Parts: sequence; structure tokens; C-alpha cells
Amino acid sequence: MHKVIFDTDPGVDDAMALLFLHRHPDIDLIGITSVFGNASVETTTRNALFLKQAWNIAAPVAKGLGETFNHGRPHVGWPTGIHGEDGLGNIDVPETIDLPLDPRPAHRFIIDTVRTNPGEVTLVAVGRMTNLALALRDDPEIAGLVKDVVIMGGAFDVPGNITPAAEANIHGDPEAADVVMTAPWPVTVIGLDVTTRTVMTRAMLVDIAERGGAPARLLSDISQFYITFYEQHVDDGMIVHDSCACAYVVAPDLFRTRSGSVRVICGGIADGQTIQKPDARLFPPSPWDGLPSQKVCTGIDAEGVLKLIADTL
Ligand code: BDR
Ligand code: CA
Repeated sequence: MHKVIFDTDPGVDDAMALLFLHRHPDIDLIGITSVFGNASVETTTRNALFLKQAWNIAAPVAKGLGETFNHGRPHVGWPTGIHGEDGLGNIDVPETIDLPLDPRPAHRFIIDTVRTNPGEVTLVAVGRMTNLALALRDDPEIAGLVKDVVIMGGAFDVPGNITPAAEANIHGDPEAADVVMTAPWPVTVIGLDVTTRTVMTRAMLVDIAERGGAPARLLSDISQFYITFYEQHVDDGMIVHDSCACAYVVAPDLFRTRSGSVRVICGGIADGQTIQKPDARLFPPSPWDGLPSQKVCTGIDAEGVLKLIADTL
């Protein structure tokens, strides 16, 4: 059983990933922490509470602070054309949800939960890396107490989706991402290299809605705006970025990884670019040296991952 804290910015593909974690029998979802990204932190937190209520999820929700890691960096804006004004595909989410939040800020919730479950917690982070970086800043020892860190973010051997260099989750807070990638904990990075190959068609979404009962029908309603955007601009279906990271937790054999230290470019025209130094190659001394080796996903059995997602939902 994997004890998971889900750090998320719901977000349409985040909502799918949340339902996956809730429904998969090998996952024990012990916390949901919100971060800005697909919308403001107020909106993503409200959405996390909405989904918790709608899907009867027991895990508490802790709200992120809403600022970038180094405070000086302004937000890059919200992708309302992809996730809707409300972050959940314009389905008319109520303004407020009558459920309590965990009293702690997200990063403090992460620290406390990791400390009470040493060696057992997997952090699955599918938004900006801000909460994880703040947790490391306030309590660096948690790096040795976390079981695994799986993040959706980055673009290594492919172009970004926000700029030619950068993927959205990293570009929205590069300083935070660099802290997370270079910390002495085991990180697996599920980036655009593999997620863009995992395209869910409308027929698959209909099948999920038919087989998955009321929760899956709500997910299908939430996904309509997002899948229409993708069909018009990108592919013949929607990319299920965040669910790929969740699938990795329970089925790592469906992925191929490459080891090596990872740095994030902070500033300049390649702001938010992720670069890995492969272990096997020799370079002169560089800012990648002496850092922990992390795993970057370079291959995916996309059909297998989509089937796992559909069967779980
Ligand atoms: C990532 O950015 C967000 O829009 C998605 O939810 C996903 O986490 C993809 O670049
Ligand atoms: Ca996300």
C-alpha cells in the first residue's frame, strides 16, 4: 500500500488524477495539498474541497500559501482557456464549499505527515513545486524521511508547453523546482517527454463515464472543456499529464527512466527549462556535479497507462 500526499492545482487533469488516487486499491491517500497553477490558490483549494465532497474522499485538504518560492517572482497568469475560469472546465463549482480545511499551511502539513510516517510517504506533486520546496526549506531532514517523490513537470528531450524551453509546472516557479530536484531525496520526473504520448480520446472518456458511476460522470463533465481545447489545438484527444504521475506510483514497469542529476534554469530566455546530466556521460565540472541522481522518464507504455487509468476510474 502506498501512502500518498497529493500536491495539486485542480485543474481538470488534476481532478482525474485525484479520482485515480482515491479509487486505486494500492493507494492510501492521506492528504491533499493545494498550490496555485491552473488557477489561484483560492480557486484550486476550493476545487480540491469540492472534489473531496463530491467523491467522498476522507483525506484532509491543506491550503498552500499562494506565493512563489522566492516571493519576488510574479505569477505567470492562469490558463483559463484550457482549464476554464473556475479551473474545473466551467461546470459551475459553488463559490464556497462547506467543509473544513486542515488548519496548517500545505508545506507544514507535508512536514508533519512525513514526520509521523517516517519512510512511508510518497509525495505526488502535479502543480508548481512551491509547497515541496517550502517544506524542504523549513525542515530539510524530511528529505531523508520521505519514501518517494513523483512529480509531473519538465520537458527534457522535447519542447516545453509554455515556452519552447519550459513546461508549465516548472515555469510557474523554477526556483522551487530546482530546490526539489537537487534535494537528497529520490525524485522521479514524469515530464512532457512521456505525458504528451498519453492521449485520452473522447471515446475512452465516454467508456469511463459509462463504467465508473456518478464520480466518473462528474469527471467527464469536468473534462469536456479541456478535451475540446486539446482536440482543437493539440491532438485527437486530451493529454492526461497528472494521471501519468499517479500511474507511475502503482505501475513503474510501464515507464522507462534515465538516471542523472537535474537542474532547473532560473531566469533568462530558457527560464524554467529542466536539464539532466546523464550519469554515464563525462563533462567538465558543472553545476550538476555532486547532486543526487534523479530518475527522468524517457519512455512510457502509453496504451498500458491509459488502460490502467480507465480501469481504475
Ligand atoms: C501541467 O500543467 C497543468 O496545466 C496540468 O495540470 C499539468 O499538471 C502540464 O504542463
Ligand atoms: Ca496539475
